[in-house]
Amino acid sequence: MSRVFISNHPLIRHKLTLLRSVKTEPKKFRELIREIAMLLAYEATADLSTRETPVQTPLATMVGQELTDKIGLVPILRAGLGMVEGIWEMMPASEVWHIGLYRDHQTLQPVQYYNKLPVHPTVQVCLILDPMLATGGSAVATVDILKRWGAKRIKFVGIIGAPEGVERLSKAHSDVDIHLAAIDDHLTPEPTQPGDPPAGYIIPGLGDAGDRQFGTA
Ligand code: PRP
Ligand code: URA
Repeated sequence: MSRVFISNHPLIRHKLTLLRSVKTEPKKFRELIREIAMLLAYEATADLSTRETPVQTPLATMVGQELTDKIGLVPILRAGLGMVEGIWEMMPASEVWHIGLYRDHQTLQPVQYYNKLPVHPTVQVCLILDPMLATGGSAVATVDILKRWGAKRIKFVGIIGAPEGVERLSKAHSDVDIHLAAIDDHLTPEPTQPGDPPAGYIIPGLGDAGDRQFGTA
């Protein structure tokens, strides 16, 4: 089974509460996604490799450290886009590889519509970025794509997971670490009466992460 890390950082807990609020407008929502993503990525990259490198300070020479792993940031479109910018600022040498997937509304199966990965892998560590891990279908499909590409070390960085999605990703790809701000309660079932939410949404969750970022609700 995958290693699952749920951040207990007070900043993340505070920002996540604001993110969930139905009163949070798209501009603030995007800011929060960006900030939470940076904090989670900070934790998810704690085991990256470094090597010694000499550095001349204004006063002396010393041995410092530099990253040896080349990082690939892999946002799942659309909602993962909002997680890229802040992390990229922290790790400007990263490459960004977009994977376009959407969930079919009826079947909840991921449908791929975009993938421009080069023929051979160009990075040592991939961070998949997507705020929502619901049924887990999109995350599993993305790991499948990256593994076929030849990626060796893959981590999933999300914001809210459902127990169902965490279990599915973890069973399908036990070598993939999962980093989240929270695991919520359950997924919505098939609607039985008018006014019920559609199936497959995380409860309590935050609604539709793509629509809330891009103002398309
Ligand atoms: C959302 C979310 C994930 C997916 C999670 O994307 O951003 O990619 O659903 O659901 P799953 O775990 O059940 O696969 P969505 O399909 O709504 O596309 P969008 O980001 O373009 O709105
Ligand atoms: N995708 C979202 O954006 N939200 C959910 O709750 C589930 C999938």
